Amino acid sequence: MIDLNGTEKNILNDVIDMLGRASVDKKFAMRNMVLSTCGKSGVPESRMVVLRKLILQKDDRFALAVYTDKRSSKVDDIKDNSFVSLCFWDPGRSIQIRLKCSATVIEAGDFYLEHLQKISGRAQESYTTKHKPGSPLGASGVELFDFDEQNFFCLILLNPFEVDLLKLGSEHVRFIWKLDQNTSSNWKGGRVIP
Ligand SMILES: Cc1cc2nc3c(=O)[nH]c(=O)nc-3n(C[C@H](O)[C@H](O)[C@H](O)COP(=O)(O)O)c2cc1C
Repeated sequence: MIDLNGTEKNILNDVIDMLGRASVDKKFAMRNMVLSTCGKSGVPESRMVVLRKLILQKDDRFALAVYTDKRSSKVDDIKDNSFVSLCFWDPGRSIQIRLKCSATVIEAGDFYLEHLQKISGRAQESYTTKHKPGSPLGASGVELFDFDEQNFFCLILLNPFEVDLLKLGSEHVRFIWKLDQNTSSNWKGGRVIP
């Protein structure tokens, strides 16, 4: 799937293709990823999230989308500090992909509505609890099966500006690409010491 004998540009395209496959294939290991944020406290926080969409943009740029509850800590963190990191691991292929991204929270608009419509049945329960994620059960009025009329669904859009690929093997292979600071369009990078 990733041809490490290809050119640097082709290898990066293979990485992007792999993320595209992860966004549509529920069995694909890289569908689950670690999202790390660092909000006001300065203490980084990591958690698993599901990759829901890969968006190909012009000039080889791309973005990833994640679903969450707009009241969750990760959203607070992103509103304080838009820089986040993603980490994917495919144990079958021994491939790690790390992305440094700037993130935005999407709470309205066509893209938001398109994805909101996809959430039906029990999946809606993730975004309609009366109390926000992390609220302590047992505190006055906080019940597990207490749902709100309101939907707290939102999307997190992740715009990568650095891609780090590591393939473990008898000889480990690592590449890093960065978006050109001036144009924000061309990826520049190559093989590095693992
Ligand atoms: C495999 C896996 C996938 C998950 N996917 C999501 C997800 O797509 N969105 C989400 O908000 N939480 C997801 N979670 C739960 C988060 O890891 C986390 O516990 C929750 O969102 C609260 O995080 P926060 O308080 O740091 O914002 C997932 C957890 C696991 C174990």
